[in-house]
Amino acid sequence: MNQTESHVPESLDDLIKELHDIFSSDKVNVEEVQTLMESYKSDPAEWLQFAKFDKYRYTRNLVDEGNGKFNLMILCWGEGHGSSIHDHADSHCFLKLLQGQLKETQFNIPDVNQKNREMVKKWEKVFHENQCTYINDSIGLHRVENVSHTETAVSLHLYSPPFDSCHCFDERTGYKNKVKMTFWSRFGEKTPLGITESKENN
Ligand code: SIN
Repeated sequence: MNQTESHVPESLDDLIKELHDIFSSDKVNVEEVQTLMESYKSDPAEWLQFAKFDKYRYTRNLVDEGNGKFNLMILCWGEGHGSSIHDHADSHCFLKLLQGQLKETQFNIPDVNQKNREMVKKWEKVFHENQCTYINDSIGLHRVENVSHTETAVSLHLYSPPFDSCHCFDERTGYKNKVKMTFWSRFGEKTPLGITESKENN
């Protein structure tokens, strides 16, 4: 199905079905996926079962494994929660706002020949409900934050191919660290303790 043929998903289930169709082909049309994700009108009744918050950090909640082609997850951001500056392990990253607002700050990848330098910010932008942003490693790195002190935020992320580790970067020096990423819950069920344990990049 090409971009003009894709229809507006009527529900989260419908969106997931469309994503399965699109990713059954090996070639990803970024614009098509972004348009599709943006066109889904967020309905909390459809995703509340996956939206699990933690007091101290943002949570990653697996929704669908995309036949091995992608991971679809819901991230729940408490007031002031944010991620570290990170890359995306050579995957596509689509981020759609389901509720609230998130600030994305993009950075250039640090020059390996220029060690111990403050990282260079490219831009920052606040995304609102239903908007969808996209990044991959050729575009750069990003940090995502819920800068609100009064409102939580919920976002839907699609990573293709799926990955379970990425690099986090120190803004002051550009040095990077490999970080394992885990799920706070999978398919609506809390991941047993000992499997998650504070591995998210926040
Ligand atoms: C983000 O884009 O900041 C979230 C990273 C993650 O998947 O944990």
